[in-house]
Amino acid sequence: MAVSLAKIDDAVWSKFEIQPAANPTSEKERAAKLADPGFGRVFSDHMAIVRYNQAQGWHAARVESRANFPLDPAAAVLHYAQEIFEGLKAYKREDGGVNLFRPDANARRFQNSAERMAMAPLPEALFIEAVEQLVRIDRAWIPGGEGSLYLRPFMIASETFLGVKPSAEYIFSVIASPVGSYFKGGPAPVSIWVSENYTRAAIGGTGAVKCGGNYAASLRAQAEAIDHGCDQVVFLDAVERRYVEELGGMNIFFAFDDGSLLTPPLGTILPGITRDSILALAKKSGTPVREELYTIDQWRSDAASGKLKEAFACGTAAVISPIGKVRSASGDFLISGGAAGPVAMGMRKTLVDIQYGRAADSHNWIRNVS
Ligand code: PLP
Ligand code: COI
Repeated sequence: MAVSLAKIDDAVWSKFEIQPAANPTSEKERAAKLADPGFGRVFSDHMAIVRYNQAQGWHAARVESRANFPLDPAAAVLHYAQEIFEGLKAYKREDGGVNLFRPDANARRFQNSAERMAMAPLPEALFIEAVEQLVRIDRAWIPGGEGSLYLRPFMIASETFLGVKPSAEYIFSVIASPVGSYFKGGPAPVSIWVSENYTRAAIGGTGAVKCGGNYAASLRAQAEAIDHGCDQVVFLDAVERRYVEELGGMNIFFAFDDGSLLTPPLGTILPGITRDSILALAKKSGTPVREELYTIDQWRSDAASGKLKEAFACGTAAVISPIGKVRSASGDFLISGGAAGPVAMGMRKTLVDIQYGRAADSHNWIRNVS
């Protein structure tokens, strides 16, 4: 890329210009929107926005009223999908404070995504500052209880040019959406459809980064899952078509009768921050954990024999969701009779207690927004 992180002048962006919305949502209307927000349909009043060009680097950092972007119809993102994003949450603590969970990990993954997609790298401090500024101005939008404010940092290629090459201009933005549960049933067990027709990621591809194109390519398989009455699709590897990789928007764990946990190894899957946190929490509590390949046939036979006690999906949006039922063209099977199990629910509680500040943060994962 044209600009390296080392050459970026901090002074250009370290001061965000804050321009509060002239007509913010009224308290009454906000309360109505926060009552049952679902996932990703309700948005806060502001957004953070920072621009990049080769001459100025990252510049014009602003927090302003949430609004449409003016984009030329020839903007590169609209044609060649040069786009990356992140997902993290702000949690309201019982004492009224606000916690972010591992925003530094999101910032680093965003840099990796930018590098893979030949986009301008965004300094970690700028990523975190943009997120914090938005949370500060829109803190009234953080739902109480088990809700949270889902933050969506993203970067788009904004150069007006139809040649196929890395864009010379980018827009980085953060928007915020108050959310409840990702799945309609909350932490009730979800059903999973095994995609045998479509794959998500190949070696050398983009599976390990968070670019919009991965999700566009997953939609047909996810639609197939819905058609079969399932909540989510699970993908198999693209070479042998038998190793379980991950869900459309979540990583996956398996819990066995010997007390151990297994999750597929990194490579073509997204290195989930929830996945990494679960691995750390399990290791700390003395639970044996393996990052190993696991085939769909083994999954089916371990579920039948009872060797497999539980399976669960994990991610920022989904938190930890037990998997009750697996369906595929070659037949269906249940895991622990389709019920939520103690390993998934225990891990979920351990994790959310840290996120909401109800349990000690011994891994130093929490960042306070004051
Ligand atoms: N895998 C995919 C494809 C995802 O979209 C996500 C969600 O971000 C995850 C895994 C889980 O990642 P994280 O725990 O960082 O949210
Ligand atoms: C997340 O968990 O943050 C995700 O990005 C998953 C999905 C909403 C795309």
